[in-house]
Amino acid sequence: MARKKIIAGNWKMNKTPSEAVELCKELIPLVKNDDVDVVFCVPAIDIIPVIDAVKGTNIQVGAEDMSFEDKGAFTGQISAAMLVDAGVKYVILGHSERREYNHETSEEINKKVLKAFENGLTPIMCCGETLAQREQGITLDWIRQQVKVGFQNVTADQAKQAVIAYEPIWAIGTGKTATTEQAEEVCKGIRECIAEIYDDATAAAIRIQYGGSVNGGNAAELFAQADIDGGLVGGASLKADFGKIVNY
Ligand code: 13P
Repeated sequence: MARKKIIAGNWKMNKTPSEAVELCKELIPLVKNDDVDVVFCVPAIDIIPVIDAVKGTNIQVGAEDMSFEDKGAFTGQISAAMLVDAGVKYVILGHSERREYNHETSEEINKKVLKAFENGLTPIMCCGETLAQREQGITLDWIRQQVKVGFQNVTADQAKQAVIAYEPIWAIGTGKTATTEQAEEVCKGIRECIAEIYDDATAAAIRIQYGGSVNGGNAAELFAQADIDGGLVGGASLKADFGKIVNY
């Protein structure tokens, strides 16, 4: 069965609640496309107003992170149960910005992935190499490590539902997109890694996105690759350009 493309915006730390509602109004008519899954991953404080604003549309709402703990004395954190109760379906986990600025490790990200599944959320687990790692020729080794640790104790049935976002760090917010060949090579490598951990059926089902300076001009070529099942979009998800990406 063909995999349905999934195109997700990662708003990062942008848009106040009222600005978020305005942006939804602007984007709703532009991102209509029932052939792909459209997800807005928004800051925690925007989740409730955005869910309200996109009610009745084809848009699903995602969070940008969550705790691996269930509840309790974890000031400032948000639990999976809170996200589910609000109506969230997806959660970005292990974005390179959180790995860098919040020192998140692949082991912690694995705990979050497991917690997301336990609560019925679909994780969008991010991986990606630095420019130095690419230049050293260790990109695939590094990505395989991130995927293997991130998916520890995840069952094949869960993995089939998961989304992995390959985001080369040097391509994020730089306007420097990976070439189509570079993006496809790594996404294919991730699928092979999933086949090694699980089996061919799981590898065929899991969805793998590319992220890093995706825009209306390069989306079609990237998404046409055999192993690229959509995109995780930063800057361009905050603009009308996101409509072009969704309707690539
Ligand atoms: P840009 O699309 O702004 O490069 O960001 C990519 C990203 O980090 C999405 O998670």
